[in-house]
Amino acid sequence: MSGHSTYQPQNAVLQWLEKRLPIGGLIYDSFVAYPTPRNLNYWWTFGGILSMMLGIQILTGIILAMHYTPQTDLAFISVESIMRDVNYGWLLRYLHSNGAAMFFFAVYIHIFRGMYYGSYKDPREVLWILGVILYLLMMATGFMGYVLPWGQMSFWAATVITNLFSAIPVVGDTIVTWLWGGYAVGNPTLNRFFSLHYLLPFVIAGVVVLHVWALHVVGQNNPAGVEPKSDKDTVPFTPYATAKDGFMMVVYCILLAWFVFYIPNYLGHADNYIPANPAVTPAEIVPEWYYLPFYAILRSIPNKLLGVCALFASIGVLAFLPWLDTSKVRSGRYRPLFKQFFWLFVASAIGLGWLGTKPPEGMYVILSRLLTLYYFAYFLVILPLLGFFEKTKPLPNSISDSVLGAKA
Ligand code: HEM
Repeated sequence: MSGHSTYQPQNAVLQWLEKRLPIGGLIYDSFVAYPTPRNLNYWWTFGGILSMMLGIQILTGIILAMHYTPQTDLAFISVESIMRDVNYGWLLRYLHSNGAAMFFFAVYIHIFRGMYYGSYKDPREVLWILGVILYLLMMATGFMGYVLPWGQMSFWAATVITNLFSAIPVVGDTIVTWLWGGYAVGNPTLNRFFSLHYLLPFVIAGVVVLHVWALHVVGQNNPAGVEPKSDKDTVPFTPYATAKDGFMMVVYCILLAWFVFYIPNYLGHADNYIPANPAVTPAEIVPEWYYLPFYAILRSIPNKLLGVCALFASIGVLAFLPWLDTSKVRSGRYRPLFKQFFWLFVASAIGLGWLGTKPPEGMYVILSRLLTLYYFAYFLVILPLLGFFEKTKPLPNSISDSVLGAKA
């Protein structure tokens, strides 16, 4: 995006505007002429899908908020009235709740894609860290949104998660009281969660702008992990990437529609159709599927404070990935040993997710501990050491070589 734009406004009004605010040039340079590596595969369409999901969540959320009441006596009924009385309210709500799940599914693919192809490495560290911040913001937003219907799971999820802070020595209880706005999860808690749940998606949108800005400064990584060297290595963003992204957005919408129209409650918990009752603890308190691996890590450690530390560390460690991975080779394609450890890592994350749904007893605890150990060892031991010991495959000279073969 350096240098002058080649954008030529089509009519007098646009020319007039461009002289005063060169927004047409900015859009043209970022989404039309922008040079995109010619070898990007479908895993590179998930950034676009994530942007679309953010749009869907904000749009459906704003309309839901017009009918929702953030008051403990009315929240549950207002959601039921959205489902029954508001025109297409059921559609809005199911799009929003299943949309959240699909948003997380896309972010996990996006993160694993980055981890496999080494997209976090120099010079993309800031881009990566902005991604980690986005992920944290998404988690906070999703959690607070889940509390809003004020069902049993909402209430008890809020109670369990806010209580984690009580593990902090000396000031823990004070912090929890401050978070609650009282001496238990109640009306002030619901009110602030609603306020923040409405605010945070816009903060996310702001950080996405920084994320994409950082991306456009350093350029996209690609499956070969070597930087473009000449014009032969890239194609213009439009029509190539726009067409591919657009196609996958449609596919993703079909998948979302399948959940919304056929199994809208499949990912939810039946107990959340029971109004919140502080006097009755549900038989099991399970978070949404996208938090399960972290829930398993938390419960695998017997000491509450250490468990909470492990929980935060398991996400925080991602931010240090650019420096923990010492290998000079970027893409997993040319790293035979890394590949195996990486897929084991994916399997352990899925395994932890499954264990998060199981009671913390017997074999489940032992398995959770083993997988938690592997989770941290992957970042703190395996990746730092692999860079020194791994014998990598020869890299292609250029992106064109990797696509067409070295003879071309
Ligand atoms: C609201 C959430 C997010 C949105 C809307 C978003 C959007 C995007 C977009 C549009 C791209 C360019 C297309 C692509 O490479 O897929 C991208 C690239 C990237 N994102 Fe994200 N992102 C989000 C979250 C994250 C997270 C959580 C991480 C990592 C922790 C991350 C790391 C990256 C990296 C490293 C790239 C560059 C990939 C490459 O060029 O190889 N992003 N993101």
